[in-house]
Amino acid sequence: MSATATSRETTPTFSAVPLPGLVQKDAVPFPLYLRTADDVWVLYHGAAAALDENHVGRLHAEGIDQLFIRDCDRPAYFQRIEGDLDAVLLDRVMPLERRVDVLHGVALHVAEDLLASVPDRARLQRAQKVMMATSGLLLRDNQGFAAVRRVLGASQGLAQHSLTIGFLAMGLSRIVLGADGGTMLQAGLAGLLHDVGKVGHEDLDHDPEHTTRGAVYLKGLGLPAPVVDAARSHHERHDGSGYPRGLANGDIPELARIVGIVDTFDKVYSTQRPKVGVFDALRILAQAYRGCFDERIAAGLVRLFR
Ligand SMILES: [Fe+2]
Ligand SMILES: [Fe+2]
Repeated sequence: MSATATSRETTPTFSAVPLPGLVQKDAVPFPLYLRTADDVWVLYHGAAAALDENHVGRLHAEGIDQLFIRDCDRPAYFQRIEGDLDAVLLDRVMPLERRVDVLHGVALHVAEDLLASVPDRARLQRAQKVMMATSGLLLRDNQGFAAVRRVLGASQGLAQHSLTIGFLAMGLSRIVLGADGGTMLQAGLAGLLHDVGKVGHEDLDHDPEHTTRGAVYLKGLGLPAPVVDAARSHHERHDGSGYPRGLANGDIPELARIVGIVDTFDKVYSTQRPKVGVFDALRILAQAYRGCFDERIAAGLVRLFR
């Protein structure tokens, strides 16, 4: 029995990757495979050799527009194509779901780096690029948000939670604010950075100061006021019951209200036991947090998932 289990564990599984982004001057640090018509994996390109335009031209000539990587190589792949994310997202040959899977992998890798310690400008710039690429995709493609939503699971850990809030805040800002690219980018950054004040304090169960701490970090990095305000005020509640200042109604900045509701939604969706689906999470949110959120924004959240 154990021999069977072992062989099953060691059989690699594969993911399709688009060709854009693979061609770079330096060697591809992982092997690339082809899948034959009868589902056999064939090594196409060994690790540690550069892939050039000629390879890609030959593949295109044979009607091949994707290669495969072992799933264990996905982190290395996401790192490699981070700088070419736009090219991948614009490659319409690849189904939208696949492109969004790549987006999510790159974005999670960037979010983990960003929040590993208090962010600096270099890591922030990488995050900005990913959020710009995301807002481009959401504006270009009507099905973009639905595809993004499907790759978001229950959040585990600060980076995954923050990324989920970034993506949801972008989608909700588009509905509520009728957002242009610039506003969506701010919403994405506000979501991604809303809990940055928790960095270095992850062991604290209750840490209301993460709001003001986060706002100080973000102001120091020169982020725009709505992003700073979202970190400071995402735990404020419509009825004045929130923190740190007990603001109510229209005194809570709009982006903070957007981040606040998707943050609470993600908390319900990710922590409810037994597990619940999106629509049950929305129903629990409406019942358990009655009066806590701006009704217009709450209605927008329901529309976002419809
Ligand atoms: Fe928070
Ligand atoms: Fe949060």
